Amino acid sequence: MVDEVPFVDITIDDEMISEAVNVLESGRLVKGPECEALENAFADLCSTDHAIGVSNGTAALLLSMKALDINPRDQVFVPGHTYFATVSPVLELGADPVFVDVDPDRYTMDPELLKDAIDEATNPEAIVVTHMHGQPAEMDAILEIADEYGLTVIEDAAQAHRAIYDGQPVGSFGDVGCFSFYPTKNMTVGGDGGMITTDDPELAAEARALRNHGRDESGKHTHLGLNYRLDEVKAAIGREQLTRLPDWIQARREAASQYNERLQDIKEVILPETYPQSKHVYHHYPVLVPASERAGFRTHLDEHRIGTGIHYEEAVHQHKAVRDRVKNTTLPVAEDICARTVSLPMHPQLSEPEVKYVCNRVGGYFQ
Ligand SMILES: Cc1ncc(COP(=O)(O)O)c(C=O)c1O
Repeated sequence: MVDEVPFVDITIDDEMISEAVNVLESGRLVKGPECEALENAFADLCSTDHAIGVSNGTAALLLSMKALDINPRDQVFVPGHTYFATVSPVLELGADPVFVDVDPDRYTMDPELLKDAIDEATNPEAIVVTHMHGQPAEMDAILEIADEYGLTVIEDAAQAHRAIYDGQPVGSFGDVGCFSFYPTKNMTVGGDGGMITTDDPELAAEARALRNHGRDESGKHTHLGLNYRLDEVKAAIGREQLTRLPDWIQARREAASQYNERLQDIKEVILPETYPQSKHVYHHYPVLVPASERAGFRTHLDEHRIGTGIHYEEAVHQHKAVRDRVKNTTLPVAEDICARTVSLPMHPQLSEPEVKYVCNRVGGYFQ
């Protein structure tokens, strides 16, 4: 009998622990073979020539932007509905974020609105596109626009390890892909971690230098880099996690399809839609409920020991730290989503009876 459904369930099993212990006993704790092996396996996963392990997903974004030479006052187009860390590196570099609203049904950057936002007179430089909740953005349209205006493309794939668009994995479309291994992500390294993917050898070399005190292959400090390395214990855990990822993605998809089936007739609950050419990896399963009902709905689920999350409370241009630094912006779709979104439990261990329990309680609230 189900009487509790956690929002996430992070797997760190005996094999992962034993890999971590082996590394601790080896005494080689940074800059070793584990990080390199994880990088090679991750490059394979993304079908890219290079992968560079870094300390977290935010560092992946920051170092990518530095390696791509994003400078103060360059314009960087950013989706309105994403995590804060998609835009904080843009601001950190003194560049100007330009926010673009998202598709109302699928929550990724709307390419038509992106096109409308580009003004060649105002220094457009790059597009950061988020594969939101694990769903790839419309990469064909985004790449076409990037090509037309000569913009670089950074994929924020922090939530979308091995999501597929038109048969191709995310992280392999843009100039660079950025991943997070934060513990709740679809795979982790047992703490913070991140990865940069690219086919560009110069960009890869630059990112490698920037994460390691600016040292080039000969060990000389040729760049002004800091320390953003991924250490060996985490890389060893990450390698084990990566072998489980295909099964975990499959389990998430099955849970999502059960939610879709069981919730489809509740008219107050709007379900997430997918692009036909995409294979979603369901980092989150977000539903939209009436804004006035959201707090009560979450309390109701909490009373039935069902964990929920909100991704996110505010559209990215509305955070105080962002709005104080940019011109007035209104993004009706992203703002509406943020007022109504609730993420239901989603993780690979979610069983059919647990999904049924959640769906019955969701239905019970709106009866
Ligand atoms: C869309 C998105 N971008 C960037 C990040 C930042 O990753 P990290 O927390 O590893 O720095 C996250 C996760 O937290 C995220 O969800």
